[in-house]
Amino acid sequence: MNVVLVTGSAGLIGSESVEFFSKKCDLVIGFDNNTREKLFGNDASISWNERRLKQEVTNYRHHHVDITDEKAVEKIFRTYNSDIKLIIHAAAQPSHDWAASNPYKNFTINANGTLILLELTRKYIPEAVFIFTSSNKVYGDKSNSLPFVELETRWEIEEGHPYYKCGINENLSIDFSTHSLLGASKLAADILVQEYGRYFGLETGIFRGGCLTGPKQSGTQMHGFLSYLMKCTITGEHYTVFGYKGKQVRDNIHSYDLVQMFWHFYNNPRRGEVYNAGGGRHSNCSMLEAIAACELITGNELSWSYSEANRIGDHIWWISDISKFKSHYPEWDYQYDMNDILLQLFDGIRSRI
Ligand SMILES: NC(=O)c1ccc[n+]([C@@H]2O[C@H](COP(=O)([O-])OP(=O)(O)OC[C@H]3O[C@@H](n4cnc5c(N)ncnc54)[C@H](O)[C@@H]3O)[C@@H](O)[C@H]2O)c1
Repeated sequence: MNVVLVTGSAGLIGSESVEFFSKKCDLVIGFDNNTREKLFGNDASISWNERRLKQEVTNYRHHHVDITDEKAVEKIFRTYNSDIKLIIHAAAQPSHDWAASNPYKNFTINANGTLILLELTRKYIPEAVFIFTSSNKVYGDKSNSLPFVELETRWEIEEGHPYYKCGINENLSIDFSTHSLLGASKLAADILVQEYGRYFGLETGIFRGGCLTGPKQSGTQMHGFLSYLMKCTITGEHYTVFGYKGKQVRDNIHSYDLVQMFWHFYNNPRRGEVYNAGGGRHSNCSMLEAIAACELITGNELSWSYSEANRIGDHIWWISDISKFKSHYPEWDYQYDMNDILLQLFDGIRSRI
């Protein structure tokens, strides 16, 4: 039997992975205990998505298990053992703000939780492919020292700079910058996953996400800015923009496109490899541009205000250079761009509320 194990299976990336890989394997098992609701409140609950997966994906088995509960996780590894061919580790505490007030819990979920999964993979299924959804926050705010020019609606990097054409690649230093406690915990996990590839020979791959988004995201103020922004524009809820004149730039990749990257990696893994994975030059926006686009799509005016102080460690401009992944897996390409993503967010959120 071919089994795929997905952690954070009712979250954005986890649920997209469940749906896609359920068509490629005999059984998908998912770990998700709705930590997202505990962290961010009812609005962020993923229970609707868990229900949907259980109803719609017949070869999906859900486990309401905490990834930091080593005994419970080990029991499931022992049960499925070498039937598990692929692990997609997408469970995480994803918010900077929450991490700052809960340093222990943040690190326990993001770093220790990853270590538990790696150790159990090494013990029970060393042949399996292990994919980790890391973050561009592992580079900290290093990119904020790049030379930017201020345009009418966004910050842009100076033309002629090596990052201008394709964005920021994996060679950016991870040192001498502010990461936030979230970034530090993701970096610890990221290095562990690399090390289990290089030191222990596991088939590990690391995907450092820009902004990951899509209609299955349960966006909230603490996490998932584009989804939350669209939700506020639809519902009339107030939105606060933090710093950088609202001109900060984010690249946004649809969860489907990221999961396609996982599929290509799974078919031809490159041990311990690290990839930046975002919307790149193909799909990005500034805060101001995102607000204008949401207003255009919904026909509503967003109620928003501006707070001068930026979030600590927040990026001014981030465009992921995905050329390394493209060169290793030339058959992969984006299916969705900014416009598709916003329209899907609109439809998805409107139907849920
Ligand atoms: N969304 C983004 O913009 C973004 C950007 C960069 C990196 N990432 C990373 O990508 C991964 C997936 O992100 P996402 O957007 O799908 O997040 P998400 O919050 O939608 O999904 C994560 C899921 O993990 C579950 N979870 C959290 N802690 C758990 C635990 N201890 N045990 C079991 N389940 C637990 C949550 O309930 C949630 O459903 C995360 O590792 C995140 O750090 C996300």
